[in-house]
Amino acid sequence: MRLDKYLCESTELSRADAKKCLHRSEVTCDGVVIKNPAFKVPDGCDVRLLDEPVSVRGIRYIMLNKPMDTLCSNVDEVYPSVLSLLDIPKAYSLHIAGRLDADTTGLVLITDDGQWSHRLTSPVKACEKRYRVWLADPIPEDKVTEMVEWFAKGVALKAEKVPTKPAVLEMISASEVLLTITEGKYHQVKRMFAAAGNKVVGLHREQIGEIELDAQLAAGEWRYLTQEEVESV
Ligand code: URA
Repeated sequence: MRLDKYLCESTELSRADAKKCLHRSEVTCDGVVIKNPAFKVPDGCDVRLLDEPVSVRGIRYIMLNKPMDTLCSNVDEVYPSVLSLLDIPKAYSLHIAGRLDADTTGLVLITDDGQWSHRLTSPVKACEKRYRVWLADPIPEDKVTEMVEWFAKGVALKAEKVPTKPAVLEMISASEVLLTITEGKYHQVKRMFAAAGNKVVGLHREQIGEIELDAQLAAGEWRYLTQEEVESV
């Protein structure tokens, strides 16, 4: 890899800034000052910027507990992007595998591995997502079975030609439920309950595939995935 690219990939520097550092003799490779941006960094080379070692990052896999009023977007708009919560280099170059609404909280997976995130989000893969849902209207006890069966059969949503794929509804209480779906249609959970004449007043994603939101993470906190979690996808 070229030295200027290496510096960009391992620090917050832009290509132009990396060139300036090189020009100012701030970069050494195995102890030798290198000023040429096109210098090819050999494998195992000890690259230093102002005598601090820098090394190219591997692919990153992150879980974040999304707080309210943040966006699953690569830009800050009405609300800040969830990426603004990651105090790591080049956070905005990562992408979000499966978006949540601004008012939905919980598990968000973030990576720079396109194939890995495709396996989570592609409709063909039918990856399960489990949501905890708080409802405006309690589900009466004598309607529970009907409701469970209705979701299991598939729900016709407004403006959709095909009903939703079978979903699993589990009751926690009359107005708190768990819903597991395998799709990611726009506002899907809210629209499914709207089709049932109810209203979602709180929505929190707890699990994607085998990966469960870490209970140690408070809203806004994140951690890297373990090898096992990455490989589960
Ligand atoms: N379904 C919704 O309605 N909103 C989300 O954020 C996720 C799933």
